[in-house]
Amino acid sequence: MVNILITGSNGQLGSELKNIYNTNLFKFEKPVNIEFTNIDTLDLTDSIFLKRFIEDHSFDFIINCAAYTNVDLAESEKEKATEINSLCVKNIVEAIENSVTRFIHISTDYVFDGKNHFPYTEEMKTNPTSEYGNSKLKGEEFALKYDKSIIIRTSWLYSTYGKNFAKTIYKLCKERESLNVVFDQIGTPTYAKDLAYAIFQILDQTIKEDHFYKGIYHYSNEGVCSWYDFAKIIAEKSYSKCKIYPIESKDYPTPVKRPFYSVLNKSKIKQTFNLDIPHWQDSLNEFFKNLNNF
Ligand SMILES: NC(=O)c1ccc[n+]([C@@H]2O[C@H](COP(=O)([O-])OP(=O)(O)OC[C@H]3O[C@@H](n4cnc5c(N)ncnc54)[C@H](OP(=O)(O)O)[C@@H]3O)[C@@H](O)[C@H]2O)c1
Repeated sequence: MVNILITGSNGQLGSELKNIYNTNLFKFEKPVNIEFTNIDTLDLTDSIFLKRFIEDHSFDFIINCAAYTNVDLAESEKEKATEINSLCVKNIVEAIENSVTRFIHISTDYVFDGKNHFPYTEEMKTNPTSEYGNSKLKGEEFALKYDKSIIIRTSWLYSTYGKNFAKTIYKLCKERESLNVVFDQIGTPTYAKDLAYAIFQILDQTIKEDHFYKGIYHYSNEGVCSWYDFAKIIAEKSYSKCKIYPIESKDYPTPVKRPFYSVLNKSKIKQTFNLDIPHWQDSLNEFFKNLNNF
């Protein structure tokens, strides 16, 4: 039996992984047992408890979905963001030091400054422009100190679980006659359910081949859009009469300036793990099907 730990499993990505596993939507070739923990059952800031928990279970894999994800609040809560996004990763890595456990950690496009005009590859220079981005980059550095780590950077994550842009626009479209949405920030949405499948595919392949392709990988859905384009399609799929108007970022000030360009190049993850990644509009259709069943 392959023993797996998934932390932060009440978040968007963790919930998608849990749902796929509990409803047998993914068939592993070998039997696996997955321990899903959350902040109440396994608080990663408690390094002593964490170490004991990990030693007691001897996990073959740990997938860390726990994070501090409030980008704006991280500016005033720098210490908390650093504790969860950086120091908790250090705690995990220290707890599995000298073990055979393989570690999969999730990171973000916010490690880049968004000044590119072509998709970011894994080798490109990082340069975070926010406390959230800084804390996530430090987390990556801790993860990479361990020689059996995979880091998956993703962007614009949304899900039927938790709070996110897609659900917010869906709700606002029902309440308002019009919405202004920025059209000068370009990226790719990622349906967390697709990323969850990709993680299970990576696990399954690693278990089968007994080979772990360590390093950094980029994953989002296929295609490119602005937040305005994303919102416009959400409004259409909601059968809403709400009008969506494009505005510039300068007319929608936020505590943290968002990257203007955060498209990720996904060639490495597709080739290494033979992944077929859905286009963001197809995944949005899936999201709506699942939202209606919610
Ligand atoms: N959301 C995005 O747009 C986005 C974009 C790019 C990358 N990412 C990355 O993708 C990953 C998954 O994001 P997500 O959207 O699924 O995050 P999320 O919904 O915010 O979930 C994170 C989970 O971590 C838990 N957590 C916080 N502190 C913890 C601790 N000390 N110990 C254990 N659990 C703790 C949270 O619990 P509480 O809610 O109770 O605090 C929450 O359930 C993260 O690494 C994130 O940085 C996200």
